[in-house]
Amino acid sequence: MMKRSLGILLTAIFFSVAVAPNLNAQEGPVQSLRGATAIDETAAVPDVRRQDTPDHRFRRSYRQQPPLIPHKMNKYQINLKVNQCLGCHNWPYNVDAGAPKISETHYMSREGAALDVVARTRWFCTQCHVPQVRTRALVPNTFKSPAEID
Ligand code: HEC
Ligand code: HEC
Repeated sequence: MMKRSLGILLTAIFFSVAVAPNLNAQEGPVQSLRGATAIDETAAVPDVRRQDTPDHRFRRSYRQQPPLIPHKMNKYQINLKVNQCLGCHNWPYNVDAGAPKISETHYMSREGAALDVVARTRWFCTQCHVPQVRTRALVPNTFKSPAEID
């Protein structure tokens, strides 16, 4: 019981010290997804961008980067039982699909043992592989790819 109330106390201190000043630093009222449009007005159509699908593949910006997804993927389901990405990217299906085989690292268990099937740690492809949209960066950053510095 003591431990629990200490935990609650520490959480409260954390929020007041670490989180609250950041909240205060944000400017203006909190907005919903609808923005500041009044209830009886029609909200502007959101800016929906199309997925960037290059002819071939994206260049990698750093050596260890999970390659970006260059094709449409909204119809490929991934859940606990089904992974439709594997229908094209798992060996030997990738041969006929003409798709790059998932990396050998994806057939390795957490302990480093070689497996015959894709590792569970690599099951949810879109944890690491993501599609792209041509738009302003959501979070500004100054990263420069060594591949693009001349
Ligand atoms: C119908 C077959 C098919 C399915 C299903 C499919 N892919 Fe692909 N994928 C391809 C092909 C073909 C390429 C190669 C495109 C090229 O090089 O022109 C590719 C390329 C990729 C690449 C780029 C690899 C690189 O080295 O740049 C990634 C990442 C990828 N796919 C991830 C996925 C993920 C994640 C899914 C599931 C959401 C998926 N793919 C489903 C056929 C497929
Ligand atoms: C935990 C992160 C992670 C997950 C989950 C993951 N990948 Fe990867 N993938 C990577 C990284 C990092 C690389 C590049 C380095 C490497 O080869 O291991 C890569 C490489 C690839 C490549 C390129 C292989 C090559 O030889 O060029 C393909 C294709 C790919 N992954 C597909 C998939 C598919 C399909 C899934 C889901 C079944 C998946 N990945 C799950 C991180 C991940």
